[in-house]
Amino acid sequence: MKINKYIASAEAYSSPGWPDNIEDIIRLGMNEGDFISPHVIEYIKSLSIDLIARHYPPGEVPQLIETIKQVHDMGENVEVLLYPGSDNGIDNLIRTFSEPGDTIIMRLPEYGNTVLFAQTHGLNIQYIEVDPINNLSVDTLLQAYYKYHPAIIYFSNPHNPSGQFIPPSELNRLAEEAQDSLIIIDEAYIHFADITFTGALPLVEKYPNIAVTRTFSKLFGLAGLRIGFTTVNKTIAHHLRILQRIKDLTFISQMAALKSLEHIEEYRQAARDIMESRAYVENSLRELGFHVIGPSYGNFVLFKPTIDPKVLYERLHERGYITRFYTDSRMAKYMRVSIWKKTIMEGFIRTLKEVL
Ligand SMILES: Cc1ncc(COP(=O)(O)O)c(C=O)c1O
Repeated sequence: MKINKYIASAEAYSSPGWPDNIEDIIRLGMNEGDFISPHVIEYIKSLSIDLIARHYPPGEVPQLIETIKQVHDMGENVEVLLYPGSDNGIDNLIRTFSEPGDTIIMRLPEYGNTVLFAQTHGLNIQYIEVDPINNLSVDTLLQAYYKYHPAIIYFSNPHNPSGQFIPPSELNRLAEEAQDSLIIIDEAYIHFADITFTGALPLVEKYPNIAVTRTFSKLFGLAGLRIGFTTVNKTIAHHLRILQRIKDLTFISQMAALKSLEHIEEYRQAARDIMESRAYVENSLRELGFHVIGPSYGNFVLFKPTIDPKVLYERLHERGYITRFYTDSRMAKYMRVSIWKKTIMEGFIRTLKEVL
């Protein structure tokens, strides 16, 4: 029996699972959102079991695509494709715009699932190693572009796990020069960096080599429903339709996303609240003598605690808080904590002081 060599050499994504007392635990390890509009909750509860479960989903819901375009003020040249989570959108971009043996450029460290998608598609991954203390620059990306001639350049912006951000105004130059690559800008956390939620979307209008991915898992608090979207220039969108698997797009997830966008101002306020809470956490961690990688532009903060992160993780876990520590040697001194509303984070900081 044959096994695909790229699959054989890869390591599966391991989900942290759910503890038995999930509802009593404060999960600050996966950057999930902590707010869902009451309007969205009410709407989800009102859906019939036939619509949620018995029927096959309808494919892409056109009102959701229209609303995404309106909310983000997208022009005629842009196409939106929906996916069950932005992970699926990123995987589809990689598979569609590269072949095994081609090169992809990525920052190290970077969001782990994208690494897995690239590996299992047989790509040659060229990492740009940037210590989390330093930001990734467009110059560094361009140097790598001229050196490796990649089919794809990928980066999360804001960056997971450092929270650093390349201002979209600087990305014009990358789009202009790196014409032979598809540039995937993963904007899972853009809402916590740019309150207009615009990010790099205007670049998509102008450049066929730019793709922007977004998710409803973070600000919109819908991680469990699995819904995200990719925006690309109209000229390349039809290629992505081949692997899109629209049967996996559920009705409930699309309608929850649609209802969320209909109450966008509530989410803009939620994003402001997270930004304020994030500043409080960054200051509190600094006061404890921790080295904070900041300012963070995501709904999380990366820091170097004064004690071993694994030990700190265990102590916090015993007290009901899950955080994120790293086994990779480059990141072993760091810990990441998701940012929820201020009252929750005040409890977290209090507990942190107690267990140090
Ligand atoms: C940078 C980044 N991109 C994408 C995702 C995945 O988003 P989704 O839940 O839409 O698949 C995550 C989740 O943590 C992430 O950190």
